Amino acid sequence: MNFELTEEQLAVQEAARDFANNVLLDGVIERDRDMKHPTEQIKQMGELGFMGMMVKSKYNGGEMDSMSYVLAMEELSKIDSSASVAMSVNNSLVCWGVEEYGTEEQKQKYLTKLATGEWIGAFCLSEPEAGSDATSQRTTAIDMGDHYLLNGTKNWITNGGTSQVHLVIAQTNAEAGHKGINVLIVETSWDGVVIGNKEDKLGIRASDTHSIMYNDVKVPKENRIGEDGFGFKFAMKTLDGGRLGIAAQALGIAAGALDLSKAYSLERKTFGKPIAQHQAIAFKLADMATEVEAARLLVYRAAQLKDQGLPYSTASAMAKVFASEVAMRATVEAVQIHGGYGYVREYHVERLMRDAKITQIYEGTSEIQRMVISRSILKGQMYEPTLLASE
Ligand code: CAA
Repeated sequence: MNFELTEEQLAVQEAARDFANNVLLDGVIERDRDMKHPTEQIKQMGELGFMGMMVKSKYNGGEMDSMSYVLAMEELSKIDSSASVAMSVNNSLVCWGVEEYGTEEQKQKYLTKLATGEWIGAFCLSEPEAGSDATSQRTTAIDMGDHYLLNGTKNWITNGGTSQVHLVIAQTNAEAGHKGINVLIVETSWDGVVIGNKEDKLGIRASDTHSIMYNDVKVPKENRIGEDGFGFKFAMKTLDGGRLGIAAQALGIAAGALDLSKAYSLERKTFGKPIAQHQAIAFKLADMATEVEAARLLVYRAAQLKDQGLPYSTASAMAKVFASEVAMRATVEAVQIHGGYGYVREYHVERLMRDAKITQIYEGTSEIQRMVISRSILKGQMYEPTLLASE
């Protein structure tokens, strides 16, 4: 394993860090408080190439590797996870899926706009009764010959109110189980697409999360991605990459909490010296730094496997479950280190703590990641290259 970053990767990391500190930081507390979507900031992220980082240049993307993508996600998430989740969904779940499995016509029509951020995409899998158990789709896409008739409700949809394109997972043939599920590209301007109210959330409050209703929406056949019945596998494959993006987001939240805690504990004095010089605080910082570094190694390793074209499903689940738990622990400790100041908005760490929680829930809960990992182990083999020579 070689984690030495190339010049290009370092440049991406620096550009993301600059953007986060110079643009996203400004107003992040107010956007969180008021649930104000970072529309203008996301537009700028598109102009800088962050919304279609891995898409080929012929479809207007940045043609970068996954390593660059996780580096950028990490930097932006240190400051504003409401903005970085929009980027993660657009890159990993929408652009990647259309580029990997879409037709040339779908790529020309949709990907060229999604890759620049001119259009934003949403990934519509979760339902009121189908979150973790993703095969239990109640949304139906009835085959009407030249089109599908789409009906149903989706929940917790990131970019729900600000997207022009939805990838909707729906059941066409209930008897066929997961093989009866399709994925359809739906334009939000079409008749019958109804955007529900914005959710009032604990964290990532500025991000745009909605329920969506599809009422007799006519979706042309040419908007189905892949063969009939490919929808569930499409969702699983795109979520492998999505989980890598969220793992990088969790890593960024944890690293951001560590940065703030380090700065604060060098500045704040008690009993005649900076609190960093009290062992109670120094040991907390040491534990946070160790866990952040371990999470970083898992995230970078999963990104490298993806870049090498190797299976990475288990690696991304491991990265997500570990990084999200590190994010939770690190942000709770950051609040503790800040004492009373940690409990007010001005010092940022209470927001990071609230934002950390969602990384254990979306794109598969921690329990789902453990299911993916344990199934892989119990099959008697790791699906993927592992550091254990005996595997
Ligand atoms: N890659 C390719 N194929 C896969 C796969 C993967 N990673 N995982 C499963 N499959 C295939 C299996 O091989 C199997 O295919 P065959 O029948 O041909 O062998 C098929 O899919 C069904 O697999 P399982 O029997 O393992 O399926 P399951 O019903 O037991 O579910 C699960 C597996 C991992 C629990 C899955 O349901 C899952 O991931 N659930 C969580 C869904 C999720 O992450 N939801 C989050 C919503 S998206 C979101 O949050 C976006 C946002 O807005 C931020």
